[in-house]
Amino acid sequence: MPNSFKTFASQFLSLIKRHKVLTSVLALLCLAFAGFGAYIGFVQIVVLLIPIALIAWILLSRRLRSGKPHDRSESIAIGSYIALATVLTFALIQAVPYGRAHSNGSIVGPTNEPAWKDAEGAAPGTTRDLMVRACYGCHSNEVQYPSYANVAPISWMVQSHVDEGRDEVNYSEIKNYSRQEKIGRESIEVIQEGSMPPSYYTRFGLHPEAKLTDQEKQDLINGLAATFGVSASSEEYDED
Ligand code: HEC
Repeated sequence: MPNSFKTFASQFLSLIKRHKVLTSVLALLCLAFAGFGAYIGFVQIVVLLIPIALIAWILLSRRLRSGKPHDRSESIAIGSYIALATVLTFALIQAVPYGRAHSNGSIVGPTNEPAWKDAEGAAPGTTRDLMVRACYGCHSNEVQYPSYANVAPISWMVQSHVDEGRDEVNYSEIKNYSRQEKIGRESIEVIQEGSMPPSYYTRFGLHPEAKLTDQEKQDLINGLAATFGVSASSEEYDED
């Protein structure tokens, strides 16, 4: 083992021993951060802990070298280094280009969309309306990026949801897909299961328009079934 790593490890361990309470608080904060990431559907946010820890460690090792006392002032210093490292990290990540372009594919409007059909008895345009409200925030070229999507790491979260969503299915370019029926069946299935829109999409009172009533869900399912020429009942899809 290289010496510098040994020094680091022993310094780190004795720090943990000296500051048990602070260590537990920090461990809990890290867990809460990861939990929050999972809650908003973006657990990747935990990578930010790496630069935070790195910057805090650089600041702290300067203090350790200077031979300052290992007393209460040390835990206060650690706390402030971590706070400073957090602020610095959040400032620095604003320079990351990912998620800033708010891209929308060039093909918009009905040209390459499915030929939407409405459920029997539903008002004309209902199917497309409901799709726009509940699904187009991620599965289309007409994504309305909210203003909080300008700030990293939230901008990364929004972009990754949109990228992943479009990868699965982009209803603005549906005519490019070879297996239309499969898309129709899957779309119905995810609505029936309640897995789409993802629960994180409507948390914190966001996107209230995407919360469909039972009637609207039924209209959407029937509309999709008519559009894609598939059955509105998911029981028939078991073998797929
Ligand atoms: C917040 C963004 C978002 C919204 C809004 C959203 N989706 Fe998705 N969708 C995703 C992501 C991300 C994936 C891929 C990962 C996954 O399956 O969770 C996905 C996957 C899918 C899939 C393919 C995967 C599967 O399970 O079969 C379908 C079909 C789908 N979505 C349909 C819809 C429909 C229909 C709506 C509207 C009722 C909708 N989505 C709303 C983000 C979204």
